[in-house]
Amino acid sequence: METLLRNLFLFLSKNRALNKAAKRWGLRFGARRFVAGETIAEAIEAVRALNRDGLVATLDHLGEFVHDAEEAKEAAQVCVETLEAIHRSGVESNLSVKLTQLGLDIDRSLCMENMRRILDTAKRYGNFVRIDMEDFSHCQPAIDIYKALRQTYDNVGIVIQAYLYRSEQDVRDLGENYDANLRLVKGAYKEPPEVAYPDKKDVDENFKKLIKLHLLGGHYTAVATHDEAIIQYTKQLEREHNIPRTRFEFQLLYGIRTNLQRQLAAEGYKVRIYVPFGKDWYGYFMRRLAERPANVAFVLKGMFR
Ligand code: FDA
Repeated sequence: METLLRNLFLFLSKNRALNKAAKRWGLRFGARRFVAGETIAEAIEAVRALNRDGLVATLDHLGEFVHDAEEAKEAAQVCVETLEAIHRSGVESNLSVKLTQLGLDIDRSLCMENMRRILDTAKRYGNFVRIDMEDFSHCQPAIDIYKALRQTYDNVGIVIQAYLYRSEQDVRDLGENYDANLRLVKGAYKEPPEVAYPDKKDVDENFKKLIKLHLLGGHYTAVATHDEAIIQYTKQLEREHNIPRTRFEFQLLYGIRTNLQRQLAAEGYKVRIYVPFGKDWYGYFMRRLAERPANVAFVLKGMFR
């Protein structure tokens, strides 16, 4: 049943008509639990509240799979304005971006141009931008763009997904040749067994392998998970290998395992919360439901509110 629901939500996450409609509806069906608001101002307030609790953030202006050049430029403009708002307000947050929102599917040079604009702004304010990883078909293009940008910028990072077979090789390459700042995650998209481990147990084992590889290689590592076994494993590596806490951080999603977020911060770890905002909340929300179909209870409550 759980697998069935998971597949259903991942399928729905790609439905363009519903995605379009959702932008008109506004935040609905309990999506507010996972999305900080529709505007930059609301997002900054959410970050301010997290900062008060000892947590830092990464802001994500929601949007993906854009097929119109003007829309991609507008998305880049919102990223620039978000960086300006972070600077003006003095909150502690960096930025996460999705390359398909910035034109990756339209024209790679447009996407690069948008990324350069965003990274130049971030650089001006001493800030950092992370490229989220999307579905498998965008993995190689995203890594290629990251590598090209890394020639010029030291304030850019990327995400690697533990469910992909290729990821061990990517982590070795990106660590050794690019001293990459990586966010490591399990992976949130529906991928076939030809490219991704179908069993959760194998994904978890690979996740641990990647964390160890990157951390012991001396490269900055963001361990992004709500899985306490993975968090314990990272803490154990820290103890056994005397890894300074300045070399890694934990990352969790806004609205998920909030007690764990605060507990880790109270233990003295750097904890960064991924804070999505904006009108394009539908795909993100569907993926959160897919991860934990029990979240459907929130949707039902939201529908009858
Ligand atoms: P797992 O799914 O095993 O969950 C462990 C426990 O966490 C669950 O038992 C439950 O208690 C809780 N939990 C997990 N998900 C929940 C949910 N939706 N609602 C309520 N409870 C939940 N993916 C990707 O493909 N590209 C990316 O760029 C990113 N970026 C990213 C940033 C950050 C900061 C995080 C934390 C995650 C991502 N992800 C991602 C998503 C990631 O790939 C993965 O899908 C989710 O983190 C869920 O996996 P966990 O590691 O939490 O483990």
